[in-house]
Amino acid sequence: MTTADDLFDQSQGNIQRLDLREIPFTESPIDLESETLQRIFTGRQGELLQVFNQFQSRERRRILVYGRIGIGKSAFLLEVLSVLRRKRPKMLTTYISLPAGLDLATTALLAVAKEMDDDYWAQRYLYQLGIPTSKILKERSSKVGGNALITAETSEKDMEPVTSQYPTVSLNILLERAQDKYPDGVVIAIDDLDKRNPSEVRQMMHDAQGMLKGDAWFMLTGHPMGITGDLLTSERGLFDLQLKLDELDQPTTYKMLINYLSSARLDNDCTDPQDPRCVLPFTPEAAAEFCRVSLGKPRLFNRLGNTVLSKAADSEVDLITP
Ligand SMILES: Nc1ncnc2c1ncn2[C@@H]1O[C@H](COP(=O)(O)OP(=O)(O)O)[C@@H](O)[C@H]1O
Ligand SMILES: [Mg+2]
Repeated sequence: MTTADDLFDQSQGNIQRLDLREIPFTESPIDLESETLQRIFTGRQGELLQVFNQFQSRERRRILVYGRIGIGKSAFLLEVLSVLRRKRPKMLTTYISLPAGLDLATTALLAVAKEMDDDYWAQRYLYQLGIPTSKILKERSSKVGGNALITAETSEKDMEPVTSQYPTVSLNILLERAQDKYPDGVVIAIDDLDKRNPSEVRQMMHDAQGMLKGDAWFMLTGHPMGITGDLLTSERGLFDLQLKLDELDQPTTYKMLINYLSSARLDNDCTDPQDPRCVLPFTPEAAAEFCRVSLGKPRLFNRLGNTVLSKAADSEVDLITP
C-alpha cells in the first residue's frame, strides 16, 4: 500500500526528475536577507543606476518607485536595500510594507525602531505599540520578580498600545539617536502605498510632508493607476527622483528564467544564454515561448513558471517542450 510518506517522496522525486531542488518561482518578493534575491534578481540596470546616483549625494533624497502591480517594485526596492547594506555599512536601511491603519510618520518610526535592536528608546516604543521585544520583556520580568500574578497583571497593563502623539518628532529623535552608529544616514523604504485608496493616500502624503522633508532618506512605492498618478501632479517637487518600472524586454526575461532555474538546479549552474543546458528542464524553444507569453511582467512570469513546472512534475516528464 502507498503511504502518505511514499506520496511525499514521489512528489519530491517528480521535481528532482526535472533536476530541481524545488520550484523556484514565487509570487511574493524574496526576503531581503536571503542570498536568493541576489541570484534571481535580473535586469533593471538603468533604473538601479539612477537610484544609486541619488545615493552619491551627501544630502538625503526622496525617491518614488512606481509601476503596475506585479511589475517588480518590491523586488526592486529590496534589491536596492540589499546593495546598500553591503556597500554602505554605516547607513541604516529599513524596509516596511505600509501597515493598515497607520499614518506615514508612525510607519516610518516603526520601520526604524525595528532595526535599532540595541536602542532602549526604540525598543520601548515598539513595546508600547504592542510589539513586545525580548529586551523590554526581560527587564520587566526581572523588575516584578517571581510573582506570577503580578506579572500577568503588569503585562496586560503595559500591553496597551500608546502610540506617539507626535510621530514626526519621535522619528526625528530616533534619527538623531541613530546618527552615532550610522553616520551615513537612515534609509526608510515604505512599500505598498497603493494598498490604500487614492484620497486616503493623498491625505497621508499631505500630512507627511514635514517628515518627508526631515532627516532621513525615503524610498516609497505605489502604482500609477491609484495614488501615484495624483501624487505626481499634486505633490510635484516632493520627490528628487520618480522612477517608473516597465515590462522587462525579452532577452532580460530569458536571463531571468536562467537565473531562477539555476538557483534551484541540482547539478548544473550554467548561466550562459548560449548554452542550451541553462534553461533545462525547458528546451530553448520552450523557454523562448515561455518568456514571450510572460510579457516581461515578473509576477506573471512567476505565476506561469509555477504552473508549468508543477504540471511538468505531475506528468512525470523530464523535458519541457513548447
Ligand atoms: N527584476 C526582477 N528579477 C527577478 N525577479 C523579479 C524581478 N522583479 C520582480 N521579480 C519577482 O516577481 C514577483 C512580483 O514582483 P513584485 O516586486 O512583488 O511586484 P510589485 O511589488 O510591483 O507588485 C516577485 O516574486 C518578485 O520577486
Ligand atoms: Mg509590491
